[in-house]
Amino acid sequence: MIYTYMDFLASFGVGGAHPGGLQLTKHILSTENVDATKHILDAGCGTGQTASFIAENYACPLTAIDKNNLMLEKANKRFSSLSLPIRAEYADIEQLQFDDESFDLVLSESVLAFTTIPVALNELKRVLKPGGTLIAVEIVLEQQLPESEWRAITEFYGFTQLLTDSSWDNLLKQAGFRQIIIEPFNYEIDKDNVENAPDFSPSDNIDDQLIKILDNHQHLSKKYKNILGFRVFRCS
Ligand SMILES: C[S@@+](CC[C@H](N)C(=O)[O-])C[C@H]1O[C@@H](n2cnc3c(N)ncnc32)[C@H](O)[C@@H]1O
Repeated sequence: MIYTYMDFLASFGVGGAHPGGLQLTKHILSTENVDATKHILDAGCGTGQTASFIAENYACPLTAIDKNNLMLEKANKRFSSLSLPIRAEYADIEQLQFDDESFDLVLSESVLAFTTIPVALNELKRVLKPGGTLIAVEIVLEQQLPESEWRAITEFYGFTQLLTDSSWDNLLKQAGFRQIIIEPFNYEIDKDNVENAPDFSPSDNIDDQLIKILDNHQHLSKKYKNILGFRVFRCS
């Protein structure tokens, strides 16, 4: 079997698998006016760390979706172990089963780069209520790369594209978002805060190939640390 980077994340059960982790998520949510009337969609919830945090801290309706069954299993295990009254559901962001104008806030943390981006953005816009907000944490290309390196990165991670922030901006506009605020990722992570410690729920018997994927990820992260950046996109 040939494993992918997503298989690695799911097998290790990496929680908060986006830059900035839970600390960034908390910061993002603290700047939004979330109350019991706001319905949130966590689009691509992974193992459910963000969804759990929302359910524990905000008295609002919450829907968590993902299309990876192992992620969903681990998210639902996490919710049960915390006695949270939520369930992660199977859904593909590119073809959501929700009615138009269902959500006030869509959070998508390190997910869109793995999708057919224009299709996913149209779907997220469709399910947002008028005046609703999409907040996406996404990878950006800070500098042009030789084609061979660009291809090696996209193939390793399974990205469909690797966009500059202005290309993201264009695609967001094409999807109908009018106000797009792009926040650079210069967020200082407090490594001493235990809440920011990595969160894992590993499967039994992890194949050696998956450990090689972790090594390769660490190698690429180091090699391209000035070329692969991240942004928070706030779009309405
Ligand atoms: C890098 S992980 C991030 C997970 C989570 N948001 C977090 O920050 O921990 C990307 C997630 O997006 C999910 N995903 C990718 N494409 C998707 C799609 N088309 N529909 C739903 N989920 C998708 C993957 O299954 C995976 O759980």
